[in-house]
Amino acid sequence: MAKKIIILPKEIREKIRAGEVVERPASVVKELIENSIDAESSRIVCEIEQGGAKKIKVVDNGTGMTPSETELSLERYATSKISVFDDIMRLQTFGFRGEALPSIRAVSELSIESKKQNSEMGFLIKTEGDGIVEKKPQAKMNGTTVEIKRLFFNVPVRRKFLKSETTEFRHIRRVFIALALVNRKIHFTLFNNGVLNLDFPPSKDLSERFSNLLGVKGVQTLLSFSRSNGAMRVQGVIARSEDAQSRRDMQYIFVNRRWVQNNLARKAVYQAYGKSLWGKHPIFLLEITLPGTEVDVNVHPTKREVKFRHTREIFESVFTAIKDTLTSKEQLPELSKEKNFAFKEERAQFLMREEPTLFSTDNDEKIQRRMERSMPKGFWQLHRSYIFASTKTGFMIVDQHAAHERIIFDRIMRRKEPLPPQMLLFPLNVDLTIQESEFLEANIEKFYEIGFRIKRFSGNTIVIEGVPPFVKEIEEDLVHEILQAMIEQKRGKEVFSEIAREIACKVAIKAGKELEQEEMNKLFDSLFATDDPYSCPHGRPTMIKFTADELEKRFRRK
Ligand SMILES: Nc1ncnc2c1ncn2[C@@H]1O[C@H](COP(=O)(O)OP(=O)(O)OP(=O)(O)O)[C@@H](O)[C@H]1O
Ligand SMILES: [Mg+2]
Repeated sequence: MAKKIIILPKEIREKIRAGEVVERPASVVKELIENSIDAESSRIVCEIEQGGAKKIKVVDNGTGMTPSETELSLERYATSKISVFDDIMRLQTFGFRGEALPSIRAVSELSIESKKQNSEMGFLIKTEGDGIVEKKPQAKMNGTTVEIKRLFFNVPVRRKFLKSETTEFRHIRRVFIALALVNRKIHFTLFNNGVLNLDFPPSKDLSERFSNLLGVKGVQTLLSFSRSNGAMRVQGVIARSEDAQSRRDMQYIFVNRRWVQNNLARKAVYQAYGKSLWGKHPIFLLEITLPGTEVDVNVHPTKREVKFRHTREIFESVFTAIKDTLTSKEQLPELSKEKNFAFKEERAQFLMREEPTLFSTDNDEKIQRRMERSMPKGFWQLHRSYIFASTKTGFMIVDQHAAHERIIFDRIMRRKEPLPPQMLLFPLNVDLTIQESEFLEANIEKFYEIGFRIKRFSGNTIVIEGVPPFVKEIEEDLVHEILQAMIEQKRGKEVFSEIAREIACKVAIKAGKELEQEEMNKLFDSLFATDDPYSCPHGRPTMIKFTADELEKRFRRK
């Protein structure tokens, strides 16, 4: 039988609403720290015990509250941050609902102490769920301290569903880091079970704070960017695909300083990285700033989601900003001007004087000449496959085949008109299989674009009269290899780029080919002139970089 409709008693209502705002200890940390930020604090300290289940304490030195404000702050819909609904669009603060403190209070033992700068005494209130346990004036420093004990003590289901202490603390740490990243003028400190866990002194620079955080993880390079598009600004810090991780926890998206989950922006980032991720997750921090009228922050009880008005513009701005940054020429590693790869000349000569027996004592000129011969200049090829080059900050290794593939692919894709063929002195006859012949027939104009000149001879036999400018040699096997590779692929819409990719792969110099200095020189120049020098058309890296810093660490100098 259907039950009667009743209005739920206040106590149950509060708990249900609280459940929406306070999902887990990390949500409490987020709300409390956001309040401290809104109160213009310059110092925020957070203490956690047992993953927040036992204790969460946030101490700030912000504006503080009068005794009556402190009391009011625990009531529902009590906020100092908006007064009419449209204020939400002009919002400069994190809070606006007047929901956080009453929700937290409903499911915990809460104590709040606060003192305004010009008052002599502070004020303390202790509550347990709905009930007030204590209320009294209290000596205190300027600012506010909120302490939450026994979270969910009166919601056994929630308490039971808390994950392990480590997992809950991981969530807390992530929230803490997110807030510290965007509020860089504030000094943030986090303690876990009495032990200092994170400390972020004030910092002007986003990438400085981000690398503070990543330092230990050995990320090679962080690239900063900042672009404006009308009233919208997209800025941030990213790491290259070579530093991509198996987990997603080094990804942060902020919209108007609010830490959010946003699939649109995330997708734009992943697309900008393209194939080079190999199923891994890039490290990025993205800050989108736009007028309040362009974004709705009031779509989710925890404020973790936002809705954009112009989704396409957002997508494109993020995509372009990241793509440009990843491929920007300014971000390329600078090859060092120093000619000697191994070590500096002065140092070399010094060594020679010290140990004359190891080197001949011939005159300086001869020594100089010998030194030049024995010390490779600029580039050095290992196993006829990898090229070493010193950079300003260390050295890099380039995979010659992958690099050449990228150069050829780029040449094909960036052509403004069909590539000019080199006509063969002795045209090549090739007998095709029926499948190969059909594929070629169907795509002949694409091969023409790339620089091939092919005629049908008779039946399935063709004559190749011209080849693209980058093809050094052509033989029957190569033609079969390219066509077969194309036939085996499940073809999508982009047949042209697939053909380009296969041709690039098949005609690029192979591993095992010895290269002259001049050839390596050209390879580097052409590679860095491509749209994406860091990966081959299949998405594999073309180069790996090492910093002097890493070497020093490996040799335990640091
Ligand atoms: N650390 C603090 N320092 C000074 N004032 C505070 C602090 N925490 C809370 N307050 C005051 O208490 C009010 C209620 O806080 P609460 O977090 O419940 O709501 P809110 O921040 O206004 O909105 P939201 O529910 O969106 O967070 C705030 O508007 C603010 O005036
Ligand atoms: Mg708040």
